[in-house]
Parts: sequence; C-alpha cells; structure tokens
Amino acid sequence: QELQLKLEMLEKGGFDHFMLKEIYEQPRSIKDCMRGRIYPEEGKVQLGGIKEFAEKLKNIDRIIIVACGTSWHAGLVGEYLIEEYARIPVEVEYASEFRYRNPIITEKDVVIAISQSGETADTMAAIEMAKERGATIFGICNVAGASIPRLTHAGVYTHAGPEIGVASTKAFTAQVTVLTLMAFYMAQQKGTITTSKLIELLTELDHIPEKIQVALESNELIKEVAEKIKDSTNCLFLGRGSGFPVALEGALKLKEISYIHAEGYPAAEMKHGPIALIDEEMPVVFIATQNSSYEKVISNIQEVKARKGKVIAIVTQGDTEVKKMADYCIEIPDANEAFLPLIATIPLQLLSYHIAVMRGCNVDQPRNLAKSVTVE
Ligand code: G6P
Repeated sequence: QELQLKLEMLEKGGFDHFMLKEIYEQPRSIKDCMRGRIYPEEGKVQLGGIKEFAEKLKNIDRIIIVACGTSWHAGLVGEYLIEEYARIPVEVEYASEFRYRNPIITEKDVVIAISQSGETADTMAAIEMAKERGATIFGICNVAGASIPRLTHAGVYTHAGPEIGVASTKAFTAQVTVLTLMAFYMAQQKGTITTSKLIELLTELDHIPEKIQVALESNELIKEVAEKIKDSTNCLFLGRGSGFPVALEGALKLKEISYIHAEGYPAAEMKHGPIALIDEEMPVVFIATQNSSYEKVISNIQEVKARKGKVIAIVTQGDTEVKKMADYCIEIPDANEAFLPLIATIPLQLLSYHIAVMRGCNVDQPRNLAKSVTVE
C-alpha cells in the first residue's frame, strides 16, 4: 500500500494530481511540439508529416476540421489562424454531427481530424466517410500509432507526451501549436505571408513557452480567486475573436472537473440570452487582453458590472482599464493576437483545477467521463 502510494507520487512528479503536473508541463510540451519544425531566422516552417502534400496545399478549396470535445475547441482556434494567415476557408465540425449528415465533400477539400487519443469513434467515422468521398485527410494526434494516425493520409503529431488527467490540458495547447504551425505552413505554400512577417511571428512563437511559464506564476493569485467563486452554481466565460474558443474551453474544463454548470459564449452574444442570468451570484470570466477586440470587451464588462455580476478578467500585464471595473484580474504576458489562446488558456486551467480541488472532486478522473471515447 505504502509502496503503491510512493509510486503514484513519483508518477505525478511531486504534484498532487496528474492534471496539475500536465498544466505545469506546458512550457516544455509546447517546446517539444515546435522542435525541428520552426526556423525563426529563416522565416520557415517545416512539417515533415505533410510535406508530400505541400504542392496540393497551394490549390485547395476548403478545409474541414472534425473533432470532439476539447479537440473541437482547438479546431475553432485553428479556424481563426488558417483563415487569417493562409486565406483558406475553414469549417469546424463536431465529428458526431458531420458523420451523420450528407456533407458536400470534394477532392479539393482537406479534412483535418484532431484527436488527442487517436481513438475517438465519432472522429474515426467522420474520417472514413470523408475519405470515401475523396478528400485528403490530415491528422493531428498525440498518441503515436493510434487508430486515427493510421487512417489518415498524413499528419502532424502533437508530441505532448502521455496525458493521464481525463480533462485535457497540455494536449489542447499542443494541438493549438500544431494548428498555428499548419496555418503558417499553408500560408508559406500559398504565398499569403511574407518571409519578413514569418520571421517576426516565428521569433515570437519561439518564446511563447517562456510566456506560459510567466502565466503559471499567477497560480497563488488564481487559488485566491478560486476560493471566492468555488461555491457558485453557475459560471459564464466570455471572449471575442480567438478569445471565444478559449472561453469555451475554460467553461468545459470547469464543468468537467468541478461539476459547476458553466457556459462559454462569444461576448457579443451575451445580450441575446446569457445576460438574463446575471446577478450578484454569477461569476463571469472574461478574456479581456489587449488586442483588436479590447474596447468591445470592456463594454461587455460594463454591462455585467451594471447588473452586479462578479467579473474575473484575464488581462494583459500592466492593464489599467479593466482593473478599474473587474473584481479580480489575472495578468498574462502580452503577445501577438495569434498566440493569445496558448497563453490565456493557462489561467483558466488553473482556475478550474483549484475550484475542483476545493470542492473535493476527483480531478484526474471526473465522474462519468472517459479519457478516450471509443464508442459512439
Ligand atoms: C473525451 C475526453 C476529452 C476529449 C474528447 C475528445 O471526452 O474526456 O478530454 O477532448 O474525448 O478526445 P480525443 O482523444 O479525440 O481528443
């Protein structure tokens, strides 16, 4: 028994839970994911796994991303990045819906299937259908040699290392990293980005692991915030632009492991429904970093404060505007909007982790959930 306990402690690397260990691994896992793939000085991205399709990428009509759960959220971030940089239209689909529709797929479509485990039944079925209809299928998987990497034509592994916690953390940020690399790679192939722009972006991307390290240093503050909202029955997460999928992922983490009902919404959609829920009992988590939607998010925060909601804001280091309004602010380092999801996700992972621990929940193995869902 004692030996068993010691063994478990060792496996968790001194952390209380696998989830916390995996959250803290992210500076390293993202570095591993980029290794040998980015060349900042030359302004070049190399993705050996999809190299054979480099020519084809110049000429595709559309990308369809299929995934489930957290991987689907990564897909939404990918949509912003690919459309922004490679100028290819992207659709993001729940694999379970896509497989049972009669979707229009042609040989000029590329389907990107995202799956940590590489074993999700719905995602596999979606791949098989798209393959039959002639699409080229790329995979973004974490587990090498799993079923999905074997079903796809090509792919890029996330290299995040084994993820034990059922709630996905480091696999998500690695998926987002791969999608960022794919967006830049496609942009490079299509000529929609200049080498000097790529040099600038890749130089910054190369330093994102350090910025994630800085974000992790807010852990104690986040624990204090968790203490204040841990007894809530509901929680709203709001963001705009690529902050919206971050909000969705923040809400999913919280509900998965703490069993608090949480919803992610585009901040501007609040007025079409969720605003009716806001009172002094309702914590609202905003992604309010300084980027193109900053001013708009500020007015959304004002709307929540006017109705006495409790505002927790993820802000850029040194922010003064949001601090005047929010009840709690958690700072993250400034970064290009393209890399915001990678950093802004970190405090949300820690927030749900601490809330779940304080509520006495089984963080690594939440009730009713499985790490990989091999049945439909
Ligand atoms: C399950 C897991 C989630 C995961 C989802 C998709 O629900 O609990 O963490 O996001 O499946 O899994 P996949 O392995 O395909 O990414």
